[in-house]
Amino acid sequence: MTAQLIDGNALSRQLRAAVSERVQALKARGITPGLAVLLVGDNPASAVYVRNKVKACEDTGMHSVLQTWPASLSEAALLEQVAALNQDASVHGILVQLPLPPQIDTHKVIEAISAAKDVDGFHLASAGALMTGAPGFLPCTPHGCMKMLEAIGFDLHGKHAVVIGRSNIVGKPMALLLLQKNATVTICHSATPDLKAFTRNADVIVVAVGKRKLLRADMVKPGAVVLDVGMNRNEEGKLCGDVDFANVKEVAGWITPVPGGVGPMTISMLLVNTLEAAERQAR
Ligand code: GUN
Repeated sequence: MTAQLIDGNALSRQLRAAVSERVQALKARGITPGLAVLLVGDNPASAVYVRNKVKACEDTGMHSVLQTWPASLSEAALLEQVAALNQDASVHGILVQLPLPPQIDTHKVIEAISAAKDVDGFHLASAGALMTGAPGFLPCTPHGCMKMLEAIGFDLHGKHAVVIGRSNIVGKPMALLLLQKNATVTICHSATPDLKAFTRNADVIVVAVGKRKLLRADMVKPGAVVLDVGMNRNEEGKLCGDVDFANVKEVAGWITPVPGGVGPMTISMLLVNTLEAAERQAR
């Protein structure tokens, strides 16, 4: 193995210890940071993510409310819940787990969340702030990836970064954050004809597609940093990412494992955003 592991669990422990201290400071002022998580339907992966988010909140001393609703919930009923949570002073952050069932307009629900409580960073106000460089909540997964690059002391200035995937949750905000740090950024996606032609020249590769073994060793420049956002199951039912880890780790300089890489960092950045929302609302 040539690559060094970027340990998302270890980095998360450090980040969460710092969050806990700030939570205690707020509690001493009579404010307990609170996160409301809304889960609609019975997507098993979403149920696991949501449970982990709620548990992480509690582990750092924050208050959390989990609402679970059947897949048949109407859009109007969900909007009503969001409106009530916007008014609830004990709730500083609101997270509606995606994807939502087809009868519900995701954009409408996200825009209904108060921008001050948008700890996912998905609201138009947050997305616009990121696009223009104004302060705002950053989406948790790309923010976690940036923290990992920072932790290994990787200077993005003048580097070539390739992001594979163009979702609003990961790919697009990831590209903007890399650009903010002066990387030259290429966004590749399902219609990119020759992915390898781009990835072979990349100093950093962020893979967020949802397809295992999408990134193979022959697609990676020796020494490159590889961040794997994928979350899939292999033939044996074991968790794996989008990167052919066993082979890519022989070529890359740095690599994130799955599990124990980007996943815990996403939750850590949600905790940071929730804490910051509470601190701002307390001012
Ligand atoms: N679904 C997959 N990732 C996320 C996330 O970061 N936030 C929410 N709300 N839903 C998701």
